[in-house]
Amino acid sequence: MAKLTITSAIASFLLTITAINGEVTIYKQKPLVEPTLTETADAASYTGAAAYDPTVLNPPALPDPPPAMAFSIGLQNGGTMGASILQPSSFFGFSVEMSVSNQILGKNSSYIQVPFLNLMSNLVKRAGEVRVRVGGNTQETAKLVDTLPDGKMLAKDIENASNPTQTPPLDYTRDLFTIMSAISDLVNVRWFLGIPFFDTNPFDLSLSQASRAILGDKLLGLQAGNEPDLYSRHGHRNSDYAPQNYYDEVGSLIAAMGDDARNILIGPNLANAEWQPQQIWDTGFVDSYSDSLAFLSFERYPNDNCFAQFGIGHFNDPQETFPEYLTHKSGQELASQYLEATAYAQTKGKAVIMFETNTASCGGFPGISDSFGAALWGLDYALQLAHSNFSGALFHIGGQNVYYNPFTPPPTNQSAFRQWTVGPIYYSALAMTEALGRGNNAQVLDLNANDGNEFTPAYAIFEDGEPTRVALFNYLTDPSGGSTYTASIAVAGLTSVKVKYLSADSVSQKGGFRWAGQTFGNHFESDGRLMGDEDVREVQCSDGVCPIEVPAPSFALVLLKGDEVVSEPAATFATTAVTGGGNTATVDEKVLETSNGHSGWDGIGMRSTSRGSVDAAVGRVDVTIGFGLTVVSMICAALVLI
Ligand SMILES: *[C@@H]1O[C@H](CO)[C@@H](O)[C@H](O)[C@H]1NC(C)=O
Ligand SMILES: *[C@@H]1O[C@H](CO)[C@@H](O)[C@H](O)[C@H]1NC(C)=O
Ligand SMILES: *[C@@H]1O[C@H](CO)[C@@H](O)[C@H](O)[C@H]1NC(C)=O
Ligand SMILES: *[C@@H]1O[C@H](CO)[C@@H](O)[C@H](O)[C@H]1NC(C)=O
Repeated sequence: MAKLTITSAIASFLLTITAINGEVTIYKQKPLVEPTLTETADAASYTGAAAYDPTVLNPPALPDPPPAMAFSIGLQNGGTMGASILQPSSFFGFSVEMSVSNQILGKNSSYIQVPFLNLMSNLVKRAGEVRVRVGGNTQETAKLVDTLPDGKMLAKDIENASNPTQTPPLDYTRDLFTIMSAISDLVNVRWFLGIPFFDTNPFDLSLSQASRAILGDKLLGLQAGNEPDLYSRHGHRNSDYAPQNYYDEVGSLIAAMGDDARNILIGPNLANAEWQPQQIWDTGFVDSYSDSLAFLSFERYPNDNCFAQFGIGHFNDPQETFPEYLTHKSGQELASQYLEATAYAQTKGKAVIMFETNTASCGGFPGISDSFGAALWGLDYALQLAHSNFSGALFHIGGQNVYYNPFTPPPTNQSAFRQWTVGPIYYSALAMTEALGRGNNAQVLDLNANDGNEFTPAYAIFEDGEPTRVALFNYLTDPSGGSTYTASIAVAGLTSVKVKYLSADSVSQKGGFRWAGQTFGNHFESDGRLMGDEDVREVQCSDGVCPIEVPAPSFALVLLKGDEVVSEPAATFATTAVTGGGNTATVDEKVLETSNGHSGWDGIGMRSTSRGSVDAAVGRVDVTIGFGLTVVSMICAALVLI
């Protein structure tokens, strides 16, 4: 492969290539006009997709009495009493509703969404891998077909939508697994899928067989049933469907899969709506199926917005509900329901994953799920799950019609001129991943800080028995500065620490959040790479005590090891599209290997992509041309951002 770096003047030449070579795909860059900022739209009259809903709520009033604005956190070397089990760096992952996987991953394996690659790459740089589940309610009726019209890998049978979440039956082709595999070849994503479970007699094993054949060890697990405790309520089983019936069905599945069932299944995947974990353990589920069970899992949201979306249940007013997310209690109350289950799992040598979660089921809440408050909530909740001995949490992505997406591609018919929208939960993922570090050996401890005040929680992260990082939250919003607190962190021998802030002006803010000064911008502004310059603060300590200011609102990650690598430049795909064929890698591997800018690669990924920065003026297009003139990488983000 020859790699050419050319100027924008040659862009028209590329368009000519498109015309003469069917394998070449060129996606138009964003035009030189700004998308209308939805913040200026009238929320009351907004009729567009939920993902861009302009509703901005009021931050809750300051609590009375306020929390103490100065408190101490003393940490011991070798002091990990009560800390969690060892946590994988990739604790924070994603769950992509199967029916929107073609929007998130790419239309088919010839078209991989570059912003998705970049978003995964940011996390892979920090954790080594990202775990992504493709599934959800839509996995249950997914049907493998040989081909679909127009080279599609996925098609919805919208007329036959049923159930509370209006889930359409899905047809998919093997190309879904091919694109997943191709993505893993580019960035280290590891996958979960789910076996359709509505029809058990016989089970349709085509998903299991095809995905295992194509993904091999890139596949981490297959769900056996998705929220089986809701099957009866939703009309997929008789009203007397009980934990014992689920146990029997998983037994039949394992029998049908034979050797293929070894160490791959995930269960019981309860929503904890009708059944409790103990009822499943009582059937002997874990002991009987231990050889088949790769993970135990649950799926849980702290609240739901089903009434507003589908007329089910009762109405939860977003403004009134907002404070429930702006407190340490939210994650604690949810995680505490699983402490017996995670303790039990440890005795059985099994890891437990929160397999599908987010702010609220049925799409989340306008103004909550897409606010900075949700970034703080998601981070506190993920740390709380880690403290509670879960081994991972997958935050759900539901498409244009939900509020809680960690990231959202533009509507299909706007993809030529708009970019992606990165939501608060993705910032939670970045901060969580850095909090856990790269070593897959973090232990997380809720410090019950500031006398357990619910608005100022803190966690310590230990590695090899030593405290390495401290996570500090301030859930309050107070532009006066009067609610900025100071945590005095005391560790013997400390002389200075580094601090990275996750910040916004208010818990209500939408878009433009900053992680150590960098951002993915507002709606439709991201190609998946952080913009702006990284801002890491250094704080001097005296006598081993380091005063850390935590503004209201914000999250502060205190890096106790001053020499720790803070973060690496993460951009790897300076493109808006990647094309290729079949299972071939679509970007020169060398580009990836050197993408942190130390050699080879021209370093575009290293630079700021802010407006007005030097790149924007350079306007280069980076193109790799290989055999048969297949253009596999194009359109520099600098151009896109001019
Ligand atoms: C992807 O879709 C395009 C048409 O949009 C088609 O030409 C191409 O063959 C498809 N790729 C695969 C691998 O099916
Ligand atoms: C809906 O499902 C029924 C029964 O499976 C099928 O006959 C019909 O064709 C489906 N509708 C569409 C639009 O495919
Ligand atoms: C997590 O597991 C560890 C090790 O077994 C235990 O000491 C700790 O108490 C557990 N944490 C919680 C919150 O149950
Ligand atoms: C995209 O499609 C939607 C729904 O069909 C339509 O309302 C909208 O105007 C279209 N936008 C563009 C830019 O074509």
